[in-house]
Amino acid sequence: MSKIVILIGSMRKGGNTDLLARKFAEGAAQHNNVEMISVADYRIAPCIGCNTCFTREGNACFNHDMDAIYEKLRCADVLVIASPVYFYGISAELKAIIDRLHTPMRNTFAIRKLALLLVGAAQLPNLFDPILMQYQMILDFFHLQDCGKILVRGVKDKGDIIGRAETDAAYRLGLSIV
Ligand SMILES: Cc1cc2nc3c(=O)[nH]c(=O)nc-3n(C[C@H](O)[C@H](O)[C@H](O)COP(=O)(O)O)c2cc1C
Repeated sequence: MSKIVILIGSMRKGGNTDLLARKFAEGAAQHNNVEMISVADYRIAPCIGCNTCFTREGNACFNHDMDAIYEKLRCADVLVIASPVYFYGISAELKAIIDRLHTPMRNTFAIRKLALLLVGAAQLPNLFDPILMQYQMILDFFHLQDCGKILVRGVKDKGDIIGRAETDAAYRLGLSIV
């Protein structure tokens, strides 16, 4: 049994990212301990490049909500990044959290596997390419194993993803993780 943490990167609760992540979680929870973190529930200040993340050195007052996220990630084996496409990247709120994982990901955390869930409104074949490149660089840099990706095009309004085959694929991907 692994501990899986899903970072949900949309501020729109009950939106397409949320629904996709929940399907993944439903499958993953069959064999694992799953925790979901939504950016909508936290206020995370952007990284200031102090390189003291996960420690309190010099920044006792700065962490705020990030402390709670560090705590949830401390024992995680698998991290799942779920995001809407915003200007061909992940959401700014999610990026702010990821930036602040830099030092603990490298030095402290036990996370060894990563998965990616993405939704976007366009139907462009290369819609996800910038994020996929960034994802691959992260896998390589931190020596992480890719557990899989679910990419959903053509979902714009809240709930557009309901009934899409990719939600079943997300469930199966979650189920496959042990
Ligand atoms: C600020 C902003 C930027 C967006 N940029 C893109 C984009 O570059 N390409 C795209 O296909 N969709 C883009 N979208 C659409 C969202 O990716 C799409 O509506 C998605 O389903 C939202 O997911 P959510 O329901 O989880 O919030 C953008 C939406 C917003 C609000």
